[in-house]
Amino acid sequence: MLVLAPITRDNLPDALGVRLTPAESHRVAPAALMLAKCHDRPGAQVWHPFLVAERGEPVGIVAVSIDRDDRLGGAQSAWVHNLLIQAEAQGRGLGRAAVAAILDWLSSEHPSVRRVGLNVRAGNDAAFALYSSFGFGDVGRTRDGRTIMLLEV
Ligand SMILES: CC(C)(COP(=O)(O)OP(=O)(O)OC[C@H]1O[C@@H](n2cnc3c(N)ncnc32)[C@H](O)[C@@H]1OP(=O)(O)O)[C@@H](O)C(=O)NCCC(=O)NCCS
Repeated sequence: MLVLAPITRDNLPDALGVRLTPAESHRVAPAALMLAKCHDRPGAQVWHPFLVAERGEPVGIVAVSIDRDDRLGGAQSAWVHNLLIQAEAQGRGLGRAAVAAILDWLSSEHPSVRRVGLNVRAGNDAAFALYSSFGFGDVGRTRDGRTIMLLEV
């Protein structure tokens, strides 16, 4: 069973031990950089870094940011950042289970969230296919060429 565990001082070594292959380093940041980004963001969003664990074993990381205020009449947006399932655990459905767990967490803990967004770098066909299968749609490009995908929930 896959669990999203908030990263705390207790599981920090596990999170920092999630490995990123050189071939993936242009796709996502390593855990230390992801955590630094979560810590060093302006205050408009609240950042939630997670360890992804399967049967108690760390297999990945991800961060979710959520609007601090409801700016659209009660509706909030969330963004998924830096989803990484480490190489030896890929291709077994864990990425899919992690996305489902993020959406479940948002639905139960942040029911005002109405829109979930994320960015995918060019050429990351696996990530694009994964998010598309959940209904995320391609809505444009960031200034540095990443695909912006959005899902209404
Ligand atoms: C992208 C990533 C999170 C997918 O995780 P995963 O556990 O390997 O994926 P799953 O086994 O759950 O597969 C889910 C879907 O992803 C897609 N997918 C996975 N591997 C793929 C591959 N090699 N080629 C094409 N599509 C692939 C498929 O659509 C698959 O659906 P299916 O099982 O119905 O075929 C993982 O490969 C990863 O961490 N990659 C490196 C970091 C990264 O690119 N993160 C995404 C940043 S936006």
